[in-house]
This record gives sequence, C-alpha cells and structure tokens, in this order.
Amino acid sequence: MSFYEIAKADDIPEGTMKAVSIQDKELIVINYEGNYYAINRMCTHMSGDLSKGKLEGKIIICPRHGSRFDVTTGKSISGPRIGFLKLKTKDEPNYQIKIENDVIKIDI
Ligand code: FES
Repeated sequence: MSFYEIAKADDIPEGTMKAVSIQDKELIVINYEGNYYAINRMCTHMSGDLSKGKLEGKIIICPRHGSRFDVTTGKSISGPRIGFLKLKTKDEPNYQIKIENDVIKIDI
C-alpha cells in the first residue's frame, strides 16, 4: 500500500473535482459532501475526459456520450447514448483516499 500526496484539501472545495496525474495514472479527485473520492479520469467507454464532464451530486457525466458514473464507487450508473442506442460500459476503478494534516493522499 503506497499513499501519494495529490493535493491540499482546500484545493478541492465541496462539489468540485480536480484532475491529477500520479505515477502512470490519470485520475479525478472529487469532493462530495466533504468526503474525497478518486476514480480514473478517462471514461471506460471511449476515453472521454471525465474532468471535463458535469458533476451532479455524486454523479459524473461523461462529456462525450453521456455515460454516468457514481464517483463514490466508480460504478457505471448508465451507459453511453449514441443516437437511439443505449449502450453499457464498465465501471471506473476507484482508489482509497485518506486525509493527513489537510493533505489528500491516494493509495495507488
Ligand atoms: S466516451 Fe464516455 S460515454 Fe462515450
């Protein structure tokens, strides 16, 4: 288990997210109701950049085709919609977070 510092807690106010690169991973860190969560930044469908998506509560919506993911678990809530097609996509990996001295650390 290796925790890496990724941001100060103040850098990610409640209801916002931040894109971070750590080791070989591209992630987004989300502050939902005062708790921090991290999932992969690239959508499991066709690599849409979730950091450019819309955050609605604990749901992040992919900017490319609208897949929805629960940021607290990484679970796919609904898949992409392309024309009349409603598809499925995989869950996003999520990562353990801890806060020490107002610093957000992530287990990679
Ligand atoms: S790339 Fe995210 S829904 Fe298609």
